[in-house]
Amino acid sequence: MGDAQATTRELGRGISLGGALDVDGDDAGGWLHERHFDAVRDAGFDTIRLPVKWSAHMATRRPYLVDASFLDRVDRAVECGLRRDLNVVLDVHHFDELCAEPDRHRERFLALWSQIAQRYAGVGAGLCFETLNEPHEPMTAREWNDLLAAALAVIRTSNPTRTVIAGPVLWNTVGGLPSLRLPDDRNLIVTIHYYSPFEFTHQGASWLEDADRWLGTTWGTESDRARVRTELARASAWARDRDRRLFLGEFGVCANVGMAARSAWTALVRAEAERLGMSWAYWDFGTDFGAFDLTRHAWRAPLREALLGTG
Ligand code: BGC
Repeated sequence: MGDAQATTRELGRGISLGGALDVDGDDAGGWLHERHFDAVRDAGFDTIRLPVKWSAHMATRRPYLVDASFLDRVDRAVECGLRRDLNVVLDVHHFDELCAEPDRHRERFLALWSQIAQRYAGVGAGLCFETLNEPHEPMTAREWNDLLAAALAVIRTSNPTRTVIAGPVLWNTVGGLPSLRLPDDRNLIVTIHYYSPFEFTHQGASWLEDADRWLGTTWGTESDRARVRTELARASAWARDRDRRLFLGEFGVCANVGMAARSAWTALVRAEAERLGMSWAYWDFGTDFGAFDLTRHAWRAPLREALLGTG
């Protein structure tokens, strides 16, 4: 491998703090406390991915300022992670209007990145920026490639070497990788999300139409396992050909699936990712996919074991 290995941040093993700052409303992130960051650090993770729904907390008119009180909350979460020597991946999550109408929201998206980049320019290299979670239709690959280059240029004016993460259209899936045009920037890590087979990992998901039809979908045969290996190997080959590092930025199985199958899938995906040299972040800490039980303030042991190999 070339200098991509040397210059980008090693993210190791991570977990997304979903359901906190990636929601609407003034109480976004209200449940998040120091003790949750302690739990992540003490379990042995290296990285926290912080999904943030900035678009719900910023003006829709120029100069598109993000609410000051919301910025303070994000600051606190970033600091909570960095203070514990965790890397923090700060993500733009659920900017759905951008995917719906990329031209119309371009200026707002770039203004957002300008604000984030300037605010955190002086923060250490443990903080990484993730340009946009799961770009998807109707935004096309061409439109996304163009926006990505523009956002990166904005970031680079104040953060010349910070690690930036970007993934392809089609919701960051492996199938989107061939259409991704990467700017010539060595501090860029490519992210993919892996939830395959989707009918298994998302069965009964309340936010998806018709997901109830998938309830009872099983997983775990030799051919099921082979498919995971093949798909992740395809992503890895794509990255190797381009001398890029891969971050498996989301993967997980929702709680409608029995724990044995859930943890078996998670263990395989995690092990394959590591074998292929990818860093990763499990989706997620405390929501429907949660490896951590917020009520008991305790890890779900089989998922912790699947992710970290510890009891
Ligand atoms: C979304 C979550 C969803 C997860 C799995 C994330 O990117 O923000 O709402 O539960 O993907 O589909």
